[in-house]
Amino acid sequence: MADLERISVSIDSFRYPDGSLALEDIRLQVGRGEFCGLLGANGSGKTTLLKVMDGLIRDYRGEVLLDGRDIARLHPRDIYRQVGLVFQNPDDQLFAHSVFEDVAFGPRNMGFAEDEVRRRVESALSQVELSDCGAKNIHALSYGQKKRVCIAGLLAMGHEILLLDEPTAGLDPMGEHRMLELLTRLNREEGVTIVMATHSVDLVPLFLSRLHILSRGRLVRGGTPEEVFTAPEEMESVRLRLPQIAELIWQLRQGEKLPFKRLPLTVGEARRELVEMMMKIRSNQEES
Ligand SMILES: Nc1ncnc2c1ncn2[C@@H]1O[C@H](COP(=O)(O)OP(=O)(O)O)[C@@H](O)[C@H]1O
Ligand SMILES: [Mg+2]
Repeated sequence: MADLERISVSIDSFRYPDGSLALEDIRLQVGRGEFCGLLGANGSGKTTLLKVMDGLIRDYRGEVLLDGRDIARLHPRDIYRQVGLVFQNPDDQLFAHSVFEDVAFGPRNMGFAEDEVRRRVESALSQVELSDCGAKNIHALSYGQKKRVCIAGLLAMGHEILLLDEPTAGLDPMGEHRMLELLTRLNREEGVTIVMATHSVDLVPLFLSRLHILSRGRLVRGGTPEEVFTAPEEMESVRLRLPQIAELIWQLRQGEKLPFKRLPLTVGEARRELVEMMMKIRSNQEES
């Protein structure tokens, strides 16, 4: 398994220069081809942990490995060839005038010839569904489009690992869905390994197979969405909630004593459970 592991975090503690303890006792691995989530309330340490995984923060107590090598000893160039971090706010990342120029910056800096740069930019823009926007002024883009340009900028550099800080924050509901569909496609079809910080509990079970829950700088739980989303009280204790559909089913089970065997996390799962239960009730009525 070890060769399938891309990032391995083992941090005893990390404090910012002002003394605030931002991470404590964090152990987690990111496997090749994984699409996992860091879920946590504001201030829980998600952004800090992504910066650690990108080698931007290095003065922690502990060890972080990228492909088995100590990331704190790697030259930034060797990290940025493999790992790209997409900031939460695209305006912190974008700086060129046009979409094309912004996405071209990375590959140009890596020394590629102009026709290779062009090929990479076009391919990256098509992956994020912005093929027609190359000539557009950055300021003319919607917030969601800007977020996708940021991702294209990293894809054009050939990043195998993408770290995304709240990629759905600030998007409208359709934008959130499209962003997660885009990331799922990059993960499944292009094999990009993705770590995504988020607090969108409703969308997580639809798209992510593995989650790490952060609370006050600590990893409090990890696993599949089924393993992680349990009782509402436990979610509240880490300042999160259950997906709304799960909350409804939980209340029906506790209050109305409806015999749900498991806690569905998506509308589709809830629908199946409900239909099954209604069929059972109907056949019981017909028998009696
Ligand atoms: N530059 C900084 N200096 C001091 N404390 C910081 C800094 N950035 C973040 N923190 C603190 O570290 C903790 C984790 O922050 P952060 O990683 O940004 O959490 P999240 O991304 O989950 O909202 C918070 O308590 C925050 O106040
Ligand atoms: Mg953050």
